[in-house]
Amino acid sequence: MERIIPFYPSARKMLVKSEGCYQYDSDGKEYTDFESGVWCANIGYSHPRISGVIAEQAKTSIHHGYKFTNPFAEKLSEELGRITGLYNGASVFLSSGSEAVNLAITLSRHLTGRKKILKIDNTYLSAYGWGQISTDNETLVNIHANDIDAVSAVDFSEISAFVLETGGASIDIVRFPDSDFVRKIANLAKENNCMIIAEEVTTGMGRTGKWYGYQHYDIAVDMVVSGKGLGNGYPVSALTVSKDILDRFEADPFRYAQSHQNDPLGCAAALEVIKIIEEENLLEASVKKGIYFKEQLEKIRAEYPAYVKDVRGKGLMLALEFEQHIDGEEIHNRLFEGGMITGYKNNSLRLLPPLVITENDIDKFITELDKLLHDTKN
Ligand SMILES: Cc1ncc(COP(=O)(O)O)c(C=O)c1O
Repeated sequence: MERIIPFYPSARKMLVKSEGCYQYDSDGKEYTDFESGVWCANIGYSHPRISGVIAEQAKTSIHHGYKFTNPFAEKLSEELGRITGLYNGASVFLSSGSEAVNLAITLSRHLTGRKKILKIDNTYLSAYGWGQISTDNETLVNIHANDIDAVSAVDFSEISAFVLETGGASIDIVRFPDSDFVRKIANLAKENNCMIIAEEVTTGMGRTGKWYGYQHYDIAVDMVVSGKGLGNGYPVSALTVSKDILDRFEADPFRYAQSHQNDPLGCAAALEVIKIIEEENLLEASVKKGIYFKEQLEKIRAEYPAYVKDVRGKGLMLALEFEQHIDGEEIHNRLFEGGMITGYKNNSLRLLPPLVITENDIDKFITELDKLLHDTKN
């Protein structure tokens, strides 16, 4: 096993099948996936309607070149306008979140003539490029999360865009910026003609209980980046812009071309994802199951106050943080051995399950966690 370049530490498991909230390895072992892959499978793995649309579309047209458009891309652009509230704007479709984030930043730099972007320090924007977290990236200005006094010190005249991730899953896992802090930045950004890019690669498509995380904040955004859950695991991402940004771009355009720009297959899959989220009431499910899950995690905290430091969550984006003297990684590993995939970082478990997770799956997880903490105690 393992002819794959190990850019990321491997779990040393060969996965062969994924369905609903479950993944199966080559030994036939079932895992309940509380990570939704990399937070992609919001409507559950191998949803029959998505598999059907992909199979059908594969017979007709997968790819046609960026010079052309297709009915799926056009309809998806209209649908994204509706769910983002950026009516009469427009979208472009790429493959990954990083691509769409970088294109959003490129567009903001081009339209403002300013080089930098502002981001909250515990958020993640992209694997490479303008949004990459690196000491070499001179484009990035970081502001410490929720440091409201630091906002006045930002020189907005050099900032092209505030790139707002409304819930971080990668750096300091599962933290949501305060409303006052976000609104203060958003107001100053607007006053200084700096754009607001909602970076919704993880927080989008119902993850936090609304279509997009910024919809929990009372702010107007200029661009929205969707990825991950947009294709439910099929690689498609989107940059959606307001009518104003579209007009400014049309008055001062530039060329941007990638091989898979606006490919019909990804757009057809994404259109179906949006329909399924609406028809299966998954935004409501995200809210209700998120409340249920958080309540159960709070019960664990109440039972083991010396072991559990914090429980955080919005919709089905949750984390449980252990106290320093508890080996959270060991618990994470034991959960995995017991058939439960969770994320782990900073002595915390990350829990972003598919929105179709059942209360029964949540209960099984809680029972297992309770057992592991009980064993730790004795
Ligand atoms: C918030 C956020 N933005 C951007 C990305 C990058 O997306 P991709 O891995 O599809 O390039 C990620 C990936 O984890 C992410 O969590």
